[in-house]
Amino acid sequence: MPYEVTANRRRPKTFDELAGQEFVAATLKNSLDNGQIANAYLFSGPRGCGKTSAARILARALRCEKGPTSNPCEKNDEAICPQCQEIFNGNSMDVLEIDGASNTGVNDVRQIKEEILFPPGTGRYKIYIIDEVHMLSNNAFNALLKTIEEPPPNVVFIFATTELQKVPATIRSRCQQFNFRLVPTEKIAALLLDVCVEMGIHAEEEALFWIARESTGSCRDAYTLFDQVISFSEGNIRIDLIREKLGIIGLEKLNELAEACAAGDFSLAFGITDELLASGAVIDTLVTNLAGYFHNLLLIKAGISRETILGDNVSGFSKKVLDKYDAVRLEHAGELLFELYRNLRYSISPRFELETLISKLCWLDKWISPAELGSSVEGVRNLLNSHASANTMNTAPANIAGNTGNSGNDGNAPDGEGENLSFSEEFRRRHMGSSDNIAHNDEIDQGVKNVLDVFEGTIIEENIEENDE
Ligand SMILES: Nc1ncnc2c1ncn2[C@@H]1O[C@H](COP(=O)(O)OP(=O)(O)O)[C@@H](O)[C@H]1O
Ligand SMILES: [Mg+2]
Ligand SMILES: [Zn+2]
Repeated sequence: MPYEVTANRRRPKTFDELAGQEFVAATLKNSLDNGQIANAYLFSGPRGCGKTSAARILARALRCEKGPTSNPCEKNDEAICPQCQEIFNGNSMDVLEIDGASNTGVNDVRQIKEEILFPPGTGRYKIYIIDEVHMLSNNAFNALLKTIEEPPPNVVFIFATTELQKVPATIRSRCQQFNFRLVPTEKIAALLLDVCVEMGIHAEEEALFWIARESTGSCRDAYTLFDQVISFSEGNIRIDLIREKLGIIGLEKLNELAEACAAGDFSLAFGITDELLASGAVIDTLVTNLAGYFHNLLLIKAGISRETILGDNVSGFSKKVLDKYDAVRLEHAGELLFELYRNLRYSISPRFELETLISKLCWLDKWISPAELGSSVEGVRNLLNSHASANTMNTAPANIAGNTGNSGNDGNAPDGEGENLSFSEEFRRRHMGSSDNIAHNDEIDQGVKNVLDVFEGTIIEENIEENDE
């Protein structure tokens, strides 16, 4: 038997085999059993989650000699009907699969319009499955619109798309819509376990979960990665072998590196990074793994402990690092890492950028978020405001900040040497003069200016008072 990739070999053949799409499957089965057949169906959802498979099952359900039925003939049925057999073989003349991506023009749709005037060669329905339908041109959509509004009675359209928002509302409103979902990690892992049993392969549960998580909800991606793992596993799928062959960095190493950063130990952190790179880790992978690591810490802070989400047992994550950082710092670390990942391919020196990032992680606990800085500034401002109003309680209305015309003060630099003044200078020197303490952000700069304005108002008023006496 020729080699067939697992994804194709394992294509679901019944509605019940569509993992994670229970709602779609139940609704479709129901309407088939009640004889409610639509002119057009629209399947939307992420790639590799069962849209094309469902379209083919629906085609069989509609054309099966027993049907329309939610239970068309199965592949190995002794008494399989010719209609189902043809669809399994992929050579039915009345089920046409069209790739919207390569047949995008109005002429392609015109051809369909002419064809559908002819009744099906055999069986009940002629079925058009148009994949990636969002790729059709505007003219093609318009041409199609008329057809799905008043199709000949025995034509059914099944559209599939990964980008629902690109399908015009006029088309959408004429279709029965079904939203396919990302398949949960547990379900993908269970599918993979099935394959292992079927193939007589031994696999560690952790390894299957790793593959399932990596494929982020796409069954096709999971099967593809699974095939790659099989190719080097020699019948025994192990997580440590996957790590070694695919250059994945284990949780222990990530803990070690993050602990060095949390302790602010630059030289140890650089040392571990160097060791990882020397042992063959790729910078991209290291950055993605670190990003995933800090993201997981953030999830743990939020109270999430499920291993299927974190990818490891909660107890495996360093308590030292968790204790050191709060959620705001962890979120920032994630941001820095994701940003670096996006920029890496443009970088002239990825290693240099990685080391800069490690250095930033080493003083992560000293980082202050713009929101935190904003609220401190607001606090100072309120304090000064209340101070200012307390001072002006007994002064004449003419003594307003800036109204210094008759006081002999030029209004810029107050000449008194009071306590407030030195604080003002101190404030300026600390927060506006030196750039290393403060995040550069116009709003913050403005906030600090506001504080100083209020502050100088107070000083000027106090000086006026003194001069007046
Ligand atoms: N819901 C699912 N349950 C089980 N296997 C699935 C599912 N979705 C996709 N697959 C696997 O992925 C392959 C591709 O699925 P397909 O239906 O073509 O996805 P889509 O059209 O949504 O991109 C299938 O052959 C099957 O092996
Ligand atoms: Mg598809
Ligand atoms: Zn049949």
